[in-house]
Amino acid sequence: MNRNIVITGGTSGIGYAIYKALTNLNNSECNKIAIIARHSSQKKSLFSADTLLIDADISKKEDVDTAEKKAMEFLGNIDILINNAGITNPSSFSKKTKDEIERTILVNLLGPLYITHSFLPHLSRQKNSIIVNITSAAGETGIPGLSVYSAAKFGLKGFSEALRKEVAVNNIRIIDISPGGVETPIHDTLVARKGKDSVNMDNALNPEDVADAVIYAINQPRNTSIHELKIRHSSLKMIGTYI
Ligand SMILES: NC(=O)c1ccc[n+]([C@@H]2O[C@H](COP(=O)([O-])OP(=O)(O)OC[C@H]3O[C@@H](n4cnc5c(N)ncnc54)[C@H](OP(=O)(O)O)[C@@H]3O)[C@@H](O)[C@H]2O)c1
Repeated sequence: MNRNIVITGGTSGIGYAIYKALTNLNNSECNKIAIIARHSSQKKSLFSADTLLIDADISKKEDVDTAEKKAMEFLGNIDILINNAGITNPSSFSKKTKDEIERTILVNLLGPLYITHSFLPHLSRQKNSIIVNITSAAGETGIPGLSVYSAAKFGLKGFSEALRKEVAVNNIRIIDISPGGVETPIHDTLVARKGKDSVNMDNALNPEDVADAVIYAINQPRNTSIHELKIRHSSLKMIGTYI
């Protein structure tokens, strides 16, 4: 199957693993992919020449509008939107500034909503399209130090649940992929602030584990809608101390 796909945050960690999984599947599948991230053009060497790299900040409405136009000019139509871009910025709530609170909600909650709003008309025109939202274990249980991130990811999960029921009539399936701890650069800010012992990656998932779950979920037959896949690192201990 050849599909046209947009991945936000496809330049690092889970998003890049999803990109690799979608481009390395087998010779009979040739997906056309557009990547959206703030600094995607700086990472050109990671991608094949036929990938469109769009520099855009999903928290900015004007960037999202421009990204949609560029992506649709390139793709023509879109089969799968993967809302993956995110940040954590861990610390206790009382130590956060209001600007930090706003930024965490903007990127993790409003960003995926802006992106979905822009691409939804195009997804609706396809007969069998899919939106994948990368949520988090922190969107199912509160984690100290990740209060604002948790608020955003709980919100994203609520959005998925409601939108799924709105757009089922257009045959759009919405899949939440909810990882536990994954070894990616998202933890770098915590390590920079608290030292490398603040995060224990020994039992963490690899980004490829999450990408495998995405591939499984998007390849189900049309009559099957996977609403959510929860993937946890096997020790079930928190991988970091976030405050
Ligand atoms: N790693 C974990 O333990 C874990 C666990 C559960 C859920 N998740 C979720 O998985 C997703 C991917 O995280 P990751 O761990 O792979 O993180 P990562 O390695 O830090 O990658 C984040 C990606 O998002 C992009 N990004 C960040 N802010 C952006 C913005 N404002 N606009 C556009 N792109 C932006 C980054 O590129 P630029 O910097 O160039 O913009 C990068 O491509 C996130 O939604 C995260 O919440 C991660």
